[in-house]
Amino acid sequence: MPYYSDEIVEEVRTRTDIVDVISQYVNLQKKGSQYFGLCPFHNEKTGSFSVSPGKQMYYCFGCGAGGNVYSFLMAYNNMTFKEAIEELAPKCGVTLPQREMTYQEKRQADRRSRLFEINKEAAGYYYKMLRSPEGQKAMDYFTGRELSAETMHKFGLGCTSKYSDSLYKYLRSKGYEDEILKDCGLITIDEKRGGHDKFWNRAMFPIFDANGKVVAFGGRVMGDGEPKYLNSPETEIFNKSRTLFGLYFARKTRREQFILCEGYMDVISLHQAGFDNAVASLGTALTEGHAGMLKRYVKDVYLSYDSDGAGQKAALRAIPILKNAGISCRIINMSPYKDPDEFIKALGAEEYEKRIQNAENSFIYQIRMLEKNYDLTDPEKKSDFQKEVARMIVLEFPTQLERENYTESVAARFNIPKDALAKYIIELGQSGITSKNKAQAKETRSNKPKPKDDGMKMSQRLLLTWLVEENGIYAKIKDFVGPDDFEDGVYKTVATEVFDCLNNSRPVDTAKLVDMFMEDEERKTVAALFNTTVGELTDNTDLSKALKETLLRIKKNSLELAQKNGADLKSLVDGKKQLQRIERAGFIL
Ligand code: UTP
Ligand code: MN
Repeated sequence: MPYYSDEIVEEVRTRTDIVDVISQYVNLQKKGSQYFGLCPFHNEKTGSFSVSPGKQMYYCFGCGAGGNVYSFLMAYNNMTFKEAIEELAPKCGVTLPQREMTYQEKRQADRRSRLFEINKEAAGYYYKMLRSPEGQKAMDYFTGRELSAETMHKFGLGCTSKYSDSLYKYLRSKGYEDEILKDCGLITIDEKRGGHDKFWNRAMFPIFDANGKVVAFGGRVMGDGEPKYLNSPETEIFNKSRTLFGLYFARKTRREQFILCEGYMDVISLHQAGFDNAVASLGTALTEGHAGMLKRYVKDVYLSYDSDGAGQKAALRAIPILKNAGISCRIINMSPYKDPDEFIKALGAEEYEKRIQNAENSFIYQIRMLEKNYDLTDPEKKSDFQKEVARMIVLEFPTQLERENYTESVAARFNIPKDALAKYIIELGQSGITSKNKAQAKETRSNKPKPKDDGMKMSQRLLLTWLVEENGIYAKIKDFVGPDDFEDGVYKTVATEVFDCLNNSRPVDTAKLVDMFMEDEERKTVAALFNTTVGELTDNTDLSKALKETLLRIKKNSLELAQKNGADLKSLVDGKKQLQRIERAGFIL
């Protein structure tokens, strides 16, 4: 349901420069008439993300993400259209009209804010309960874990009651209906048994998003019991793989790195000890989404995972994810303690600070972990280990310089004959194992979901891009091809608009076309439509030939379709004639 009139939507968009907006989030560099940078929507090392000031659109040649300034804010900040326009309007001096919404509109628009409200209500309810007689057990629990009243307050800690429907009753008394409660992540509605709380008899940790709004909870059993932590399920406002516990506080840190740990209590202990840069992923291993979030704030991350086997495994999994996102990481050694929480309790903040200073280079850490799998007293196993080290160096580092530096320090650190290692690395390099960067670039090219494309759509896109970039072509092709020759749906809608503009000598506003579509996929398709390149063709005869072939393909396809769909004879004959005319025509560009 459109919220604001098309005029207002247009006005805000045209008064805003997409390059300004996107540069706040992505480092852009000008190349010709476009800006390029690393795509924020997928992990990459070469910039395939382009922003066109002329078209006021962005498009990623790697993953196909694209759209106008609204689509960008919606995708990047997880906003609704309404939130995006409300963010932009004041910055470009447009006052959005206030109007009474219909009931239907209001319900739609308010859903998310209602879910935020409910989570906030719940947090308040749990918070008060912890500080009431009913919360004594939880209070003792937190106190036993050495949390100060100030820390408990800062993190909004709370607890649930022993009864399994007290939050439900409370929220109902506040006027929330089952219809919305069933989706807030805290309540189960059962037809027969009615509403019940998901959390009861637990110590509660609210989870804030980066803006400080409560979006979910983690609840811990007080003492032993399974599961140790229960977390809110994903909801419309809670995306686990993009949420980091502690981020709201950590984003304000003055330190240049984040400390990434595993648990709620680790984050809280670290903050209490003055490490206001600690965050954790929640009840899930680190994902690319998390890495993308981290990358918005810092370039370096210290991993402070548990020192047990599971923690080491998790660290080994996290390292490549962080590196792929362009984050460099170091590993904090916590032994002999299990996790940062226990470490701080036992040795204090100063010792932890020292461990940060001595954090290990992630590559050395990976090799140290690898070493554990080999019996180095056996010369054969020892050689296997050393060969594997060489392979890792080659795969990880593309430049000679890095390879030599790492060869030197690894040889010294792991007692490997340096010259032999260096020689083996050169051999490997020559025998054609490529560094990860190159292999990855290839992978990106072949695996990434290039918008699924048969040649047909490609031709249609090419023609549309062409028409928009060189309006003069319109006069040459308008007698041969029309909007009806385009595929039904987005393509046809867009083609109709483009032909209409050109026919009336109006400029085509491609970014405006994006707003004709509400669905994210459709918006991406539109962006892709106008970012098709004619490949390497430069000289004019090639271009003429390409244009002719493009027209022929589009026309043939539409004729075939018409035939299949039982079009009347006259239109088929007309179509055939047009096709023949294209074949005979010369297109001079
Ligand atoms: P840990 O088991 O390491 O717990 O789980 P912890 O953080 O040290 O907890 P305390 O100190 O015993 O209270 C690490 C994280 O994994 C998730 C939680 O986010 C937890 O903080 N987890 C763990 C769950 O989601 N469910 C579980 O049952 C256990
Ligand atoms: Mn712990």
